[in-house]
Amino acid sequence: MANLYRASPKDGIAWVTGASSGIGRGTALELARRGYTVVATARRVQELEHLASEAKGLSGRIVPATCDVTDPESMVWLVERLEREHGDIVLAFLNAGIYFPLRANPFDAEAFRKTFDVNVYGVINGIAAVLPRMVKRKRGQIALNGSVAGYGGLPRAAAYAGSKAALIAMAESLKFDTDLLGLTLQIVNPGFVETPLTALNDHPMPFLMKLDEASRRICDGFEQGGFEITFPKRLAFILKALNLLPYRAYFGLIAAMTGWNNKAP
Ligand SMILES: NC(=O)c1ccc[n+]([C@@H]2O[C@H](COP(=O)([O-])OP(=O)(O)OC[C@H]3O[C@@H](n4cnc5c(N)ncnc54)[C@H](OP(=O)(O)O)[C@@H]3O)[C@@H](O)[C@H]2O)c1
Repeated sequence: MANLYRASPKDGIAWVTGASSGIGRGTALELARRGYTVVATARRVQELEHLASEAKGLSGRIVPATCDVTDPESMVWLVERLEREHGDIVLAFLNAGIYFPLRANPFDAEAFRKTFDVNVYGVINGIAAVLPRMVKRKRGQIALNGSVAGYGGLPRAAAYAGSKAALIAMAESLKFDTDLLGLTLQIVNPGFVETPLTALNDHPMPFLMKLDEASRRICDGFEQGGFEITFPKRLAFILKALNLLPYRAYFGLIAAMTGWNNKAP
């Protein structure tokens, strides 16, 4: 794609949502290591302050700020304030996300609402706060944190996989416009990464990756550009290939691979 903007710490600051733990925390630290001033946001301020202290001595720095991604107005104000105080946001990693393992019975509609509120509307609120500013400056890079779980349905993931599928399709659709605007839009689709979120899983997690390695891969992907940042490649490839199969084969193989055949309804 011709001349899409690629972020650099010389041009401005980075913003990472969901930076109080897991992938957001690891990526914020890695970006600070690579020279960025990183505004790290989440709801738990104490964790963000610890993160800022941990970044002392790196070539960049971390500025903590509280923010609930489900509150659209406060996100707009936050971005206005951050840019006034620290400079233009050239890289936004909209990462905050939650996961509840769910079954069909009992059906928990509230858990679906919460999941879509954070994983989908939280990302939409972030785009709405930062994209118009980037469009005006003709300079900006936005990455959404999806998941390989968004490629297709998985046991216990109706809300989570549904929310991530929405992000992938949303990013694909927006890219037609952001390309014309010269901005970079990316989707990050990690496989399993060791974080508090995956600590909830009691099923096998093939190719589980350490957080530091995942954070480096994400930041390499920001630097390299391209639409999708996904890892480990083997898992992404297997899941994409399974999704090309007829449904009968897809359901059978996924159930066998996850041990789902043995679960009581
Ligand atoms: N770990 C994996 O294997 C994996 C794989 C694929 C994709 N992902 C995606 O990666 C992202 C991060 O996951 P993780 O594994 O790092 O989980 P995590 O350690 O549980 O971190 C989730 C982050 O989201 C923040 N958050 C949750 N609700 C929020 C809200 N309403 N407003 C603002 N921040 C909120 C949390 O901060 P506060 O609670 O302080 O607000 C926390 O910083 C998620 O989008 C997840 O779907 C993870």
